[in-house]
Amino acid sequence: QCGIAVESRINCGCDRSLSRADCEARGCCYVPLPQSGLGGPPWCFYPVRYPGYKMGPLLPTEKGQRATLARSAPSYLPRDIPTLQLDLMPETLGRLHLTLKDPASPRYEVPFVTSQSRGHKDIQNPLYDVDFQPDPFGFIVRRKSNGRVLLNTTIGPLLFADQYVQLSTSMASSVISGLGEHYTPITLDLNWTSVSLWNRDMAPHVRPSESANLYGSHPFFLVQEGDGQAHGVFLLNSNAMEVFLQPAPALTWVTVGGILDFYIFLGPSPQSVVQQYHEVIGYPMMPPYWSLGFHLCRWGYTSTNITRTVVQLMRQAKIPLDVQWNDLDYADQRRVFTFDLQRFGDLPRMVEEFHQLGMKYVLILDPGISSASPPGSYKPFDDGLKRGVFIKNSTGQILIGKVWPGPTAFPDFTNPTTQDWWTDCIRVFHSKVPVDGLWIDMNEPSNFVQGSVDGCPDSDLEKPPYTPGVIGGQLNAGTLCVSAQQYLSNHYNLHNLYGLTEAIATHRALLKVKSTRPFVLSRSSFPGLGRFSAHWTGDVRSDWEQLRFSIPGVLLFGLYGVPLVGADVCGFGGDTTEELCVRWTQLGAFYPFMRNHNDKPNAPQEPFVFSQQAQDAMRTAITLRYSLLPFLYTLFHHTHSSGSTVARPLFLEFPTDPDCQTIDRQFLWGSSLLISPVLEEGALEVTAYLPPGTWYTYYSKGQYILFPAPLDTINVHVREGSIIPQQVPALTTTASRRNPFTLIVALSVGNWAKGELFWDDGESLDTFEHGNYSYVLFFAEEVQNRENFGLISEFVCVCVCVCVCVCVCVCVCVCVCVLQVLTVAGLDLPMTAMITVQWS
Ligand code: NOJ
Repeated sequence: QCGIAVESRINCGCDRSLSRADCEARGCCYVPLPQSGLGGPPWCFYPVRYPGYKMGPLLPTEKGQRATLARSAPSYLPRDIPTLQLDLMPETLGRLHLTLKDPASPRYEVPFVTSQSRGHKDIQNPLYDVDFQPDPFGFIVRRKSNGRVLLNTTIGPLLFADQYVQLSTSMASSVISGLGEHYTPITLDLNWTSVSLWNRDMAPHVRPSESANLYGSHPFFLVQEGDGQAHGVFLLNSNAMEVFLQPAPALTWVTVGGILDFYIFLGPSPQSVVQQYHEVIGYPMMPPYWSLGFHLCRWGYTSTNITRTVVQLMRQAKIPLDVQWNDLDYADQRRVFTFDLQRFGDLPRMVEEFHQLGMKYVLILDPGISSASPPGSYKPFDDGLKRGVFIKNSTGQILIGKVWPGPTAFPDFTNPTTQDWWTDCIRVFHSKVPVDGLWIDMNEPSNFVQGSVDGCPDSDLEKPPYTPGVIGGQLNAGTLCVSAQQYLSNHYNLHNLYGLTEAIATHRALLKVKSTRPFVLSRSSFPGLGRFSAHWTGDVRSDWEQLRFSIPGVLLFGLYGVPLVGADVCGFGGDTTEELCVRWTQLGAFYPFMRNHNDKPNAPQEPFVFSQQAQDAMRTAITLRYSLLPFLYTLFHHTHSSGSTVARPLFLEFPTDPDCQTIDRQFLWGSSLLISPVLEEGALEVTAYLPPGTWYTYYSKGQYILFPAPLDTINVHVREGSIIPQQVPALTTTASRRNPFTLIVALSVGNWAKGELFWDDGESLDTFEHGNYSYVLFFAEEVQNRENFGLISEFVCVCVCVCVCVCVCVCVCVCVCVLQVLTVAGLDLPMTAMITVQWS
């Protein structure tokens, strides 16, 4: 019973460390190992077939099958749940939904997130098989095509108590990505590690450990099976959770509440796993075109004049800038929905001036509402109080914490009344300051006192029988008392949803107030955020390690369905250096969301503060981004319309290439642009992996094997067979959108190339859904032995245009463009030729 391989031991003491006596009292095996029991394999582990739930017969239901599970004896946990209901719901050929809950009394379940996901009855021949071990209960999910076991939960017991739910599974391989938000490479370390999911205001640099819980929670992971196939698992549960990883390979989920609500995605390709996951959590929003431009911000632009000067200097330096931002400096006594009349008195005029320049303006908006202003002097709080929108403590008074303005109350965004009040606050403010988007920060929610200014009660919620390994050691550390009451449940259950609910409310408010595509940037996240908001990776430090780890950070959020994501370019904390800032700007030019942002005490890092050489390099990088925006926008269209990624890890595109499994120093835009940035100080060359096939350097016609990377260059390669639509860049997207288009045609070995362009007005709502767009498909082929008219002699576009809506003067056009690429008779095929076509 105890003869289990060391790497496969499932810890019997996930909740606390156990002495031999404690361990044996649980009926577990105690076998010490020579090395320390801490951080390595457990000494106390479950024996084979540790008693658990016994499964009754499976009976058919509307959506699949159901069984009852019952324990014959209670587990060692307080408030054990003796009977469970298992529901097995095959939803699509590649998606299986499985829930375990208490049939006797309803428990908290995540109230939204999967609105788009609906299953189908009678799935014929799905990609999976499910088997059960009835006693003790466990399930096994296999890939039908090859019999591979993807999940096997019989390796450990199912434990289900009121505040402790645990399930273990074997894994099909050790190559697993996800379970964010943490400071990790693209694949997780399974050497007896754990990651906790509990949203926390935690700068990634403060504790550069892989397990520190950061701003968001994403209980989803993708497993590369080793032969190019992949599967994914999503545990829809918003309670504090710790996931233990071990080299077997195996994994144990422990969550302190809710139900077990699993979605299993069979792929079989990694890309289809991502699509299947996005189908459940919702496809990302279509961003406004301008939000793909360059954004500039810092904490410390202390007046409108300083902010104006920044914009002027950017324009003088001829560096594109679409969006100027202000941090909290604008607010009167740091209270949101106000502006400081001394320093920001002409804020409305400044915003209008930026609009005249074709630019946009975004402001920070923290959720904490100052509660300390004299009654009658601060409407957002007075009104909120009247309308009952604030989170209450366990005894029904408004919970007061401390954030930037001092004492603050926290809106409860799960309350429909709060949505109305929030919309009103935004409408009134917008009528004075016509902001184009909102930056919702500090929304984990962050609190500078533990729980509240009055502390937290001594209760099972505040001190559960088991607390996952979170920073601060307690769930209320750096946030609200978890016993606080919200409209839909307590904060214990809803904490991880705070940022998401604020993002939804802010998105909806902007939608009502502006009637154009909302732009919201949220720090805190949960599955589904991408439908409403962009994300940035928080307070990264200006150093080379953070530059490098920003790549997996950004790529993972793509998997999580938040494609509009980036890290603060040049770093937020600490002084940057010129070289770091140049390299970061080059990499940032390929973040889907590109914003340079800096902390208050630091040396300035706007592009214009650096030497001419550095400015030139930054201008080149940002201008390159602007050229490529039509291509980037088209990628966003794809994620929005069918769920996929924009910035893409190599393994998604080259799943059968073992070299690509863990690469996270390079990445792709879509399937055809490979970005290989310099990530080390002083480096003037980059060692980049080129997946099989022909790759063209972006800048010239030759194919390099060696990649020089002088300070003014970021290596970008174009994949054979692709056509990249571009537009002549300008200082803003307002201007660049009027410029001629060009195409980069990278012929394949077979002498063809294809590409596409999604085009609309860049800001109207639901253009795709309403058919207010143009879609152009490009095909190119080389025709030999004809007279040479230059490399391109024909460029034929056949457009079938159906005008369905004239209100925004855009119509649906499906255009098929055929490029015939001709070469001189006798000339070698231009295998390495990359051709640029001008088109306006
Ligand atoms: C914390 C945010 O992460 C940072 O970006 C911002 O500058 C500060 N709050 C001040 O608002």
